[in-house]
Amino acid sequence: MIKILAIESSCDETAAAVCKDKVILSNIISSQKIHEKYGGVVPELASRAHLQAIVPVVDQALETAGVELNEIDAFAFTQSPGLIGALLVGAEFAKSMALAFNKPLIAVQHMQAHVLANLITPARAENKTPSFPFLCLTVSGGHTQIVVCESPLQQKIIGQTLDDAAGEAFDKSAKILGLPYPGGPLIDKYAKTGDPHKYHFPEPKIEGLDFSFSGLKTAFLYFIRDAKATDQNFVEKNLADICASIQSRIVSILLNKLKKAAEETGITDVCIAGGVSANSGLRFEFEKLGREEGWNTFIPKFEYCTDNAAMIAITAYYKYLDKQFEDFSVVPSARTN
Ligand code: KG4
Ligand code: ZN
Repeated sequence: MIKILAIESSCDETAAAVCKDKVILSNIISSQKIHEKYGGVVPELASRAHLQAIVPVVDQALETAGVELNEIDAFAFTQSPGLIGALLVGAEFAKSMALAFNKPLIAVQHMQAHVLANLITPARAENKTPSFPFLCLTVSGGHTQIVVCESPLQQKIIGQTLDDAAGEAFDKSAKILGLPYPGGPLIDKYAKTGDPHKYHFPEPKIEGLDFSFSGLKTAFLYFIRDAKATDQNFVEKNLADICASIQSRIVSILLNKLKKAAEETGITDVCIAGGVSANSGLRFEFEKLGREEGWNTFIPKFEYCTDNAAMIAITAYYKYLDKQFEDFSVVPSARTN
């Protein structure tokens, strides 16, 4: 049995997890509240908050797992993509640990890890994990991708966004409505009691399996501006219907492309992953589409959808089996590499 301590610090969550093979023993996440008042993540403040949180978060991950530091077989961290200053905190921490305990160091790519959250051994035996090859729609604050996962460490991107990510589409729409950052979860909350057919927003015509969300954002901005010109209280009066309508359009853009990808590849094990996969509208419509299309559908547990270190741990486990270790010259990268 291999025990790995994994750290995730790519954006505004300081997270640590311990796994024993594919089973997650602990998954601790400390979300940085400091960014809320700025309406977005401030990189310098994120780095500082990671520095403050990392020791207590790692301590708690070890304690919850009931594992001592000297029992850890390897130390893993998110290497890319993300905010460089934020990534550095996790990378240097993992390096120090690996050096002090003379254990392997494993570098993990964040987007690959979001996909592999679907391979974490489920707590309930009847819950299965996907078979290879599987398709994954990975939707986060910075990325939107359709990936063919041929084996844990072999992932091929077959479609991606040409501009904004799905999470940005949620967050920017929320900002236009005057909601605080990050707005995605709030749109989800208000959408629950709204009518998704009340307002109509355009679906972009993009070739192939790629996505675009910038046109939708502009259409939404003008729609709200015009409606407020006629009635100042339009947003307050219709918040639930507006949220349900914009959410429903973002979800249909995502799922139409996923359906196309499944048709083109003939793959029937299909997953979603990333922060936006926590969205209740997407989860519901994805399961519905899966039943219509005869797919086996998979969604990570809620806590493994948004940024977390459990997904870094599971990816590191596969890298450990493949002996993909780093030396201490490894550096984080803001861009995917
Ligand atoms: O994967 P993630 O936690 O971080 C990145 O790697 O970017 O994704 C964050 C994104 C944010 O845009 C956030 O608004 C969105 O995921 N998000 C949601 C929900 N929960 C998180 N969007 C819609 N509905 C949600 N329930
Ligand atoms: Zn993420």
